Amino acid sequence: MLNILKMTPPHRAVVYEILQQSDMFTLPEINVAMELIDVYLFNKDQRDYMIYVAVAEGGEVAGYICYGPTPATEGTYDIYWIAVSPAMQKKGIGRKLLAFGEDEIRKEKGRIIVIETSSQQKYHPTQQFYQKNGYVIEARLKDFYRPGDDKIVFIKRFNSNGGMK
Ligand SMILES: CC(C)(COP(=O)(O)OP(=O)(O)OC[C@H]1O[C@@H](n2cnc3c(N)ncnc32)[C@H](O)[C@@H]1OP(=O)(O)O)[C@@H](O)C(=O)NCCC(=O)NCCS
Repeated sequence: MLNILKMTPPHRAVVYEILQQSDMFTLPEINVAMELIDVYLFNKDQRDYMIYVAVAEGGEVAGYICYGPTPATEGTYDIYWIAVSPAMQKKGIGRKLLAFGEDEIRKEKGRIIVIETSSQQKYHPTQQFYQKNGYVIEARLKDFYRPGDDKIVFIKRFNSNGGMK
């Protein structure tokens, strides 16, 4: 059994640990992820970021998703971060977190979901994860992150009934 719950301050330390353990993120990236978490946890009036955690049976936090409406757009949402604890990957938890976020975005009449990622070899499994979940590459910005490291923009579009386009 897996529960998906709104993130609360007691989850913060475990999510920080998951980000560090994942071996995927640089220190500046982890710092940005934590900044978004702190805005979500400690600024009750903000509406820019929504964060949910996946809690396994026994209360263990297995992963989290952070998304929000892209500023100055109508119905476009960014999924800013998704991560699953390395020990619990490939068990369907990432897929459930993503599907949960997509359902919430559809309820808010979201039309387009954008996910940005890096072209580095180490992100190839992550890219496969997005493709297996129905995301397509819409754009590629060469050398965006650093020379030889492109930004890949994945998107998923919904029609007005909330189905996939
Ligand atoms: C990407 C990530 C969130 C996926 O979570 P997960 O719980 O391992 O993924 P799931 O078990 O739900 O997998 C869903 C589908 O993606 C595929 N997939 C997941 N990880 C994969 C991998 N490493 N290589 C290839 N395919 C993969 C699964 O095979 C599955 O497809 P299937 O049902 O056809 O078998 C997780 O691997 C992760 O936290 N990675 C490190 C952090 C990261 O890259 N985050 C994204 C950038 S912000």
